[in-house]
Amino acid sequence: MLNETEIQQLLERMTVDEKIGQLVQLTGSFFDNDENVITGPIGKIGIEKQKIKYTGSILNTLGAEKITNIQRNYLKQDRLGIPLIFMADIINGFKTIFPIPLALGCSFDPKLVKSTAQVAAQEAAVSGVHVTFSPMVDMVRDARWGRVMESFGEDTYLNNLFSQAMVEGYQGRNDRNLNIVSCVKHFAAYGAAIAGRDYNSVELSERALRQDYLPAYKAAVDAGCGLVMTSFNTIDGVPATANDYLLDQILRQEWGFDGVVISDYAAIKELIAHGVAKNEKEATRLSLNAGCDIDMMTSSYSNSLHQLLGEGTINESQLDKSVLRVLELKNKLGLFDNPYRNASQELEKELILCDEFRKIARDAVTKTCVLLKNDNILPLNKHSQFALVGPYAQNNNISGMWSFNVDKSQVVTVEEGIKQYVDNFKTVKGSPLIDDLHFLESLGAHGSQAEILNENAKDLLNEALQTVEDVDTVIVAIGEHPHQSGEGGSRGQLTLPQSQLELLRKLKMKRKKVITLLFSGRPLELSEVVQNSDAIIQCWFPGVEGGNGIADLLFGYANPSAKLAMTFPHSVGQCPIYYNHLNTGRPAIESSHSTRFTSRYIDIQNEPEFCFGYGLSYSQFKYSKVELDKKVMTKNETITASIKIENTSDRDGVETVQLYIRDLVGTVARPVKELKGVQKVYLQSKETKEVEFKITNDMLKFVQKDFSYDSEDGEFLVFIGGSSSIDNDIVFELIK
Ligand code: GLC
Repeated sequence: MLNETEIQQLLERMTVDEKIGQLVQLTGSFFDNDENVITGPIGKIGIEKQKIKYTGSILNTLGAEKITNIQRNYLKQDRLGIPLIFMADIINGFKTIFPIPLALGCSFDPKLVKSTAQVAAQEAAVSGVHVTFSPMVDMVRDARWGRVMESFGEDTYLNNLFSQAMVEGYQGRNDRNLNIVSCVKHFAAYGAAIAGRDYNSVELSERALRQDYLPAYKAAVDAGCGLVMTSFNTIDGVPATANDYLLDQILRQEWGFDGVVISDYAAIKELIAHGVAKNEKEATRLSLNAGCDIDMMTSSYSNSLHQLLGEGTINESQLDKSVLRVLELKNKLGLFDNPYRNASQELEKELILCDEFRKIARDAVTKTCVLLKNDNILPLNKHSQFALVGPYAQNNNISGMWSFNVDKSQVVTVEEGIKQYVDNFKTVKGSPLIDDLHFLESLGAHGSQAEILNENAKDLLNEALQTVEDVDTVIVAIGEHPHQSGEGGSRGQLTLPQSQLELLRKLKMKRKKVITLLFSGRPLELSEVVQNSDAIIQCWFPGVEGGNGIADLLFGYANPSAKLAMTFPHSVGQCPIYYNHLNTGRPAIESSHSTRFTSRYIDIQNEPEFCFGYGLSYSQFKYSKVELDKKVMTKNETITASIKIENTSDRDGVETVQLYIRDLVGTVARPVKELKGVQKVYLQSKETKEVEFKITNDMLKFVQKDFSYDSEDGEFLVFIGGSSSIDNDIVFELIK
């Protein structure tokens, strides 16, 4: 490692071109002839050819051999021997692809989530990667937004836990001491895009920003993440990438972050489209002045910084600050001592998709699929007669939109998973994956998509109805196309394709027992699925071990314990809908006003289809009343809330016990409930356990009108149960 003086001396020896190059990130395709994963506007970059050799970091090049070759060739020509740093999108696993983050959020289990990051770090490190653009901790309350699949859902408390867990998992020590640096994103509040339309504006009060959206980014900073990525959106009219209030005042002054800030893909040049910069030079000035260190995949910094320095608009000390942060990051990674770090083709062969990692992935599937309905049909008896139907029955494209590195031949399909337990069943497709051929064509219908374009829904349906003639139970694997969520995947409707709903209707008409497996990157409208299914498992996009984990749940080798990290709306018209809402002056339920003049819809129900924190088990859990060891506490005391939980079933199981608190009166209106604690409790059949939560003053704090962060005396309600709809509240008072 270089010491501070050596780094300073290196900086002083650098030319302006060399300094500017450290602030530029390009894909590896500029350095080898392989196609890279282009994750943003493919457009013409427009960077001057002779400047490419100064580039400081590489985006989304993967593989020990490729990265080692690029690094070796680069260092041969680099005057000062400053190594490249390789960064990539490792969102839900590297090659051992885990369930999507929204699914991981449903585990309510930070330890599990940390273990997935530890596996990803090991596979990525031996493949030559130094930094991952993860965790994405944008809080999301609107299921129309496609990137909800990458988030941990709608709750700030959970987002904070998972943010810290992911950073520690990537950066912390593990058995093989193979780690990578974490870049938290997208700073900030990208998930609050108006109308759920990707890249749209964000309009939040300062209080809502600080109370609900910023904490999870701060949790990553406090956990020591090495980088922060700016988001595409404006906040209060100012694009995040040029927002010095966000990038300097909050991130650096208030939070003390001293790592690297990198723009999102082309976000600097997009300041022109935002209408805050008239050209690249303006965009460059605004971004660097706001505190954005690296320009991802545009020519702005490369083409304009020289000019700005020459004009004196930017001075060299500003440039040096950003360059120093990049050099320090490379030094922290040990790249000056060993520019190849952990890249190793031998270790790639040994570790990638090894049994140890697959086991963790399979376990993650069983702990993230949510049992939404079960009319005494699950777990299924292995010897029962059933058929498997649906476009996800034999589909290996079940890893979600950010799994561009997945090897689909390594993915266990639902059919393959079931076949490890039974093989006397038939499988048919039953319906196309998608009815909207224009959407498919927009994806560039190639491979499996071309095949879907030529399908006939009626033929598939008739074939399925014939196939299920002689069985009474049908497992139906359906859902939205993986590309209907993820970046650029906003939807105005949350419905399943009509051909899939028609399949369910026909099976119900034939009096079949229907077990529906749902694959999606977001909450969907499920009321008709609920009517026509005897059981529903929300499988999200479960990754390489999807089929195995789902089969474990279907036959009872695993008992569901996951809970929804995001509300499922009854109708898209309710979006954004979330559990920790304010009460309003005319709440629909307990208002004294006539029903018309209350906060409700006149044409749809107010309540969601499934609420935050909801999820069933094969066990049944009975809760006693909540008890408190005292009714009054001061700010430096605590109260112990306790409850008895009995497993009344004949199956051992894990209950995800949730603690909610409501602040009844505040100087600002407070949510009707806020999650403040979670415990995963294992109960044997017929076992009863007492579960305790310590209520502290910290749990009662919130962002006040003057933006101070503190609690206020007064009465609070405590709820403890298995979902946010629990109403077993008990009151206590906080006094000065
Ligand atoms: C994309 C995404 C961001 C990703 C980056 C690099 O546009 O917004 O999440 O990390 O580009 O691929």
